[in-house]
Parts: sequence; structure tokens; C-alpha cells
Amino acid sequence: MTDPTPEHGTKPTITDDVIEQIQANVTEPHAPTELDLSREPILEVENLRMYFPVKSGGVIRRTVGHVQAVDGISFQVPAGGSLGLVGESGCGKSTTGRMITRLYKPTGGAIRFAGQDIVPLSNREMKPLRQDIQMIFQDPYSSLNPRHTVGSIVGAPLIVHNVVPKKQVLPRIQQLLEVVGLNPEHYNRYPSEFSGGQRQRIGIARALALQPKLLVADEPVSALDVSIQAQVVNLLQDLQKEFDIAFLFIAHDLAVVRHFCPEVAVMYLGKIVEIGDRETIYAAPHHPYTQALLSAVPDVKQAVIGGRRERIRLEGDVPSPINPPSGCRFRTRCHLAQEICAKVEPPLLQIGKRHKVACHFAGELGKAPSRPVTAQLLGVDDQGNTDPTAAPVTAVTSQPGYADTWVDLDTARGAHA
Ligand SMILES: Nc1ncnc2c1ncn2[C@@H]1O[C@H](COP(=O)(O)OP(=O)(O)O)[C@@H](O)[C@H]1O
Ligand code: SF4
Ligand SMILES: [Mg+2]
Repeated sequence: MTDPTPEHGTKPTITDDVIEQIQANVTEPHAPTELDLSREPILEVENLRMYFPVKSGGVIRRTVGHVQAVDGISFQVPAGGSLGLVGESGCGKSTTGRMITRLYKPTGGAIRFAGQDIVPLSNREMKPLRQDIQMIFQDPYSSLNPRHTVGSIVGAPLIVHNVVPKKQVLPRIQQLLEVVGLNPEHYNRYPSEFSGGQRQRIGIARALALQPKLLVADEPVSALDVSIQAQVVNLLQDLQKEFDIAFLFIAHDLAVVRHFCPEVAVMYLGKIVEIGDRETIYAAPHHPYTQALLSAVPDVKQAVIGGRRERIRLEGDVPSPINPPSGCRFRTRCHLAQEICAKVEPPLLQIGKRHKVACHFAGELGKAPSRPVTAQLLGVDDQGNTDPTAAPVTAVTSQPGYADTWVDLDTARGAHA
């Protein structure tokens, strides 16, 4: 196969050795994926926004508001690495994935893939890049056309992008089926003849066909039985290693991404509320929402407050993204919320080497400070009113990635190196 995008470097090819290697691995429990700090980001998302217009009824349909599905998020995914994107249903995860794969054109912000901003690109300009950025969908039932054979589903991208000569299409499809653990002779069967786990493997084979550099996996195992989930995650881990694929791994709970993702971003109502490395997010989350999500994960050491094991319940429903709460969007469900939370939006502050959090009262579980840690930085008093005597810190930004210095929560000022 010729490399379709030589400007992005060569891609590892699928060989019999690689297939053997992956198949020998399937039953072995895999070690968690580790963070490789030497890799540059392949994906850099900055202040990304997606507002869907809400139309009035009637003949003249006017725009009467916007669903702020994603509202200014920033993160990075290292080449060959994986970032988990976690949050309750409706927080904007799929919309984020669909913008990165350019199924949606963002309302604003930048998506830099291998250094190039793909937001302004036309469909024609996007075409060569589509080979490098692929998506795996949540539902293995609805994402595969039931009237097409597995061979035509997996082979379609090969033909559309004209990446292999015609007579090599079938052998290539069979190779792809084999690499995801399916019988290569089953290319003539229909999706209905496969189980849920097998169908998800078909979707993975299709996503792999063009040997992408980045896979957006949108809840790839959420629809599968728990026993099958681990196998599919193992497979994805093997594929990541063999083909050096970067993953944005989307899930609605923290348990699923823990093994796969050395870094995790937590989303709430269109915003990232906390992002950091695995150790920090699972052992010392500082945002009340992350703490609540984590307390629902059974195998994680749960909160011990006053000797009790406590499950933090999230009260109430997620508010509408058409009219989100003022200030902190989580305040209507937050047990720590105070006056400042309604008045001032907490910025996503870097508070550790690889840790950012957006909360006025950020602190470990049970150790939230009594005064807002952000007030001085933002030039407001503790109630969130503008303080004329304050000298706000201007460098409160939310760039993707991490700076070498960060805010010290104890002093709420200054920087640590
Ligand atoms: N095409 C669309 N038009 C209007 N609203 C949408 C559209 N897609 C998603 N939304 C809304 O955007 C919000 C985020 O949705 P989504 O990204 O699917 O969340 P998640 O994947 O985290 O469950 C939801 O409120 C959803 O109803
Ligand atoms: S800013 Fe306030 S409402 Fe928001 S999470 Fe922190 S304490 Fe809760
Ligand atoms: Mg979704």
C-alpha cells in the first residue's frame, strides 16, 4: 500500500506478524496505558464552541436561542496517546467528537491536527485529512448499514479514498477483519449475523481501514456487555500500540477510561471542569463534580467522611444548555455552591503540574477552602462583587496543555515551578 499522506510521516502497515502479535495478546490482561511525555500533541483543541440554533415554530422560523452544546473547551491529545473525555449524557461529548472529525463545523475555536487548524477547511480540503482522523461510534447496531455486507462496509473507505488497487481490496478487507479478531472468511455476511461485540469490531475495522493517526472513539464499549467491554478495550489498546494511533476516548463514566487513558478531561454542560493525569483525577480530584462521578465508581476507594463510606449524590437534573446557569454551570447541583458561584464563572486554572480545575472552592474531597481560592486572581471579593482595591491576575487563561508554572491553591497566588 502506498502511504496516502507522506507529509505526516510513514504509517506502520498491517502485516501477518502484526496480526499474530495482536491475536496472541487478546486473552492476556493488559497493563494500563502509560503517559509518554516525549510525544508532541497530534491534536490540539482551543476554545472550541458549538452552538446549535433553536428555531421558533410557525412559517417564518426565526432563531430564538442556541443550544450551547460545547462552550469553549481546550485540550491536547499526544501522538499515539489517549485522552479520556468523560461526563453525563448531554454534556457535549459526542458534539466534540463530531467537530474533531469535522462532521460538524464548529461555531468557534481551533482544532489543530498535526499543527494545522482544520476548522476553516472546506470539505474538499478536509478530504485528505479524513483518512487520518476516524471515528468509532457508540451503537454497533445503528452505525452499520444492515443491507451492506461486512466486506462492503469495511472496504468502502478503501474505495472512496482509492488507497489500494482494486484487486487488493478484498485481501485488505480480510486482513482488517483478522486484525480485529473476526473470521476473514465472513466478509460476505451481514451485520445482523454478528453479536454486539463482533459488530463493534466491524466498526473498528472500518475505522482502521485508512490507518488513521487519530481515532475518536465515542463510547465504543457503552452498548456492550461488561465481559465483552474488556476484550474490546484490550483490542483498542493493541491497535493503539501496533499502529501508533492517538485516541480521544469518550465515555460517560470514569471507570471505563481509567485503564486506557493516562489523562482524563471531565465535562459538564459544555465545559471542561477538570482535566489532569490519571493519578490526580482518580486519587485527588478537586472538582465537586469529578468527586461525585468518582464516588459512583465501585472499585475506586470511596470517600471516607467521618468514618462512613459516602456516595455523593448528584441532586436534580442537568440544566438545559439553552439557558445554562449563570456563573458556574454546576452550581444548581453543587453542595458547595456559594454566592460567588452564581456571579462569576470559575476559570479553568492550572493548579498542579498536569492538573487544571474550574471551581472557586477547589480542594480535595472534604477539604474545600472556606474562602474562594479564585477571588484575588479575578479581582473580586469573596461574594463575587468587583473589588476596586484588587489587582486581578491577568494571566488566567485556558490554553490547551499545561504551563511550567501554576497557581498555588494555598496562597491563591504566585506560581510553582
Ligand atoms: N444536532 C443538534 N441540534 C441541536 N442540539 C443538539 C444537536 N446535537 C446535540 N445537541 C444537544 O447538545 C447537547 C450535547 O449533546 P451531545 O454532544 O450529544 O452530548 P453527549 O454525547 O455528552 O451525551 C445536548 O443538549 C443535545 O441535546
Ligand atoms: S464554583 Fe461553586 S458551584 Fe461551581 S463547582 Fe465550585 S463550589 Fe460548586
Ligand atoms: Mg454522546
